[in-house]
Amino acid sequence: MISIDFTNMMASAVDNGVTDEEWEEAYGAFATVHKGVETLRSEGVADFMNLPRNAPLLQQAIDFAGRARGRYDDAIILGIGGSALGPIALKTALCRSGWNELSSDARSGHPRLHVLDNIDPVTITAVLDRLALERTLFIVTSKSGGTAETMSQFLIAHERVANAGLKIADHFVFVTDPTTGALRPLAGELGVPALDIPPGVGGRYSVLTPVGTLPAALLGINVADLLVGAGEMLDRCATTDLSQNPAGIIGSLFYMSDVRHGRVVDVLMPYADPLRDFAAWFVQLWAESLGKHRDDGKSVGSTPLPALGATDQHSQVQSFMEGPANKVIAFIAVKDHGSDIVIPSAFEHVTELGYLGGHTLGELLDIEQRATAGALAKRGRSNLTIRMEKVDARGVGALMMMFELATAYAGQMYGVNAFNQPGVELGKQFAYALLGRPGAEAAKAQWDALPKPDPRWSQGD
Ligand code: PA5
Repeated sequence: MISIDFTNMMASAVDNGVTDEEWEEAYGAFATVHKGVETLRSEGVADFMNLPRNAPLLQQAIDFAGRARGRYDDAIILGIGGSALGPIALKTALCRSGWNELSSDARSGHPRLHVLDNIDPVTITAVLDRLALERTLFIVTSKSGGTAETMSQFLIAHERVANAGLKIADHFVFVTDPTTGALRPLAGELGVPALDIPPGVGGRYSVLTPVGTLPAALLGINVADLLVGAGEMLDRCATTDLSQNPAGIIGSLFYMSDVRHGRVVDVLMPYADPLRDFAAWFVQLWAESLGKHRDDGKSVGSTPLPALGATDQHSQVQSFMEGPANKVIAFIAVKDHGSDIVIPSAFEHVTELGYLGGHTLGELLDIEQRATAGALAKRGRSNLTIRMEKVDARGVGALMMMFELATAYAGQMYGVNAFNQPGVELGKQFAYALLGRPGAEAAKAQWDALPKPDPRWSQGD
């Protein structure tokens, strides 16, 4: 069960906090916000809300993973943005010590999972060179089926597998839109199996499709539980009573703090290593969905920032405490860390060591989170604490659905389309123009019209 304590967001606890009147206003407006998202769902735009009940789609991932069991030592995701961050977050959260590449256990039939979410030749070479290709599966993940970075990776991996004399269909699986994009027909041409990303689910909302469930199932994660947790959160958020809707609370508080109180940065700071990459997943979800140029000419959307407790207490927290009071800090605290270590009692005569003995590391983490929240509140810095029972598949599914819904609600509040990303388009078009892709002539003309580097404002070679 996930709970939220937002006392430290309110004016009764912090200067420039959300007032009772503003909360009442948000409470009154929430039914319209909720209805707006439900309308998008009925129009097929917010189809991520239908994923927890899409059993056939889940089965695609389970079936493929079943057939793949024991066949591969390494599974490599080729993908970027929403096609990579969800699987990375799941692996880190649910594959114990998942952020360590050595975590997967090939002996139990589960491959090691690597996610190539960039096109840096150093990383690609390092990963590809150490693979035994005959024991490798490439998962090419792209909703659009045409992203330059992913297609380049695919071409490189395809050439390696072909040159090794291996059958392409045995070493690739595509995860893509059921009808559109280049990957789908290519799957037919090459005999490569292809799993679906439903048309109404965009990249950053796709973690509960085979984008996330296929790699998770390959790793032996309980993907059914992931969807159960997401479904439970969806049910909790069926209410238009804002005080009972966790996603509504987060969306409303982040939104109000931004537009009314100048808290323009939303920090997500889990106190749990398994949720380290969850924060990165949230950053993409929030930034790409809400950072928008609205039709009325106004640029809107708060800026998400990842942090990790307790590590960032020795880094970013200084700025959260004494830098500009322009942030909301959302902590995630975990009640049961799954394993714990008692700190031994020794050197009791040494002040810096003696008081630690007998406490556990989990206890220390929890106390430090509460201490940081209290310190921030005392300093007038808005913060809230999301508490979850433990980082298991059900809990992570619930957390993901909560933040996806919060983002969709915030889209309604800001008055933007939370499901497109027009802002990344021009850079893509310029890259196409520079690479000579057919159809990019107009972008080439715009590129050529840009100011040229001016020697007065350049330094070095
Ligand atoms: O959220 C999004 O839509 C994007 O971040 C995409 O995931 C990213 O651009 C990759 O796109 P695609 O999955 O089409 O290759």
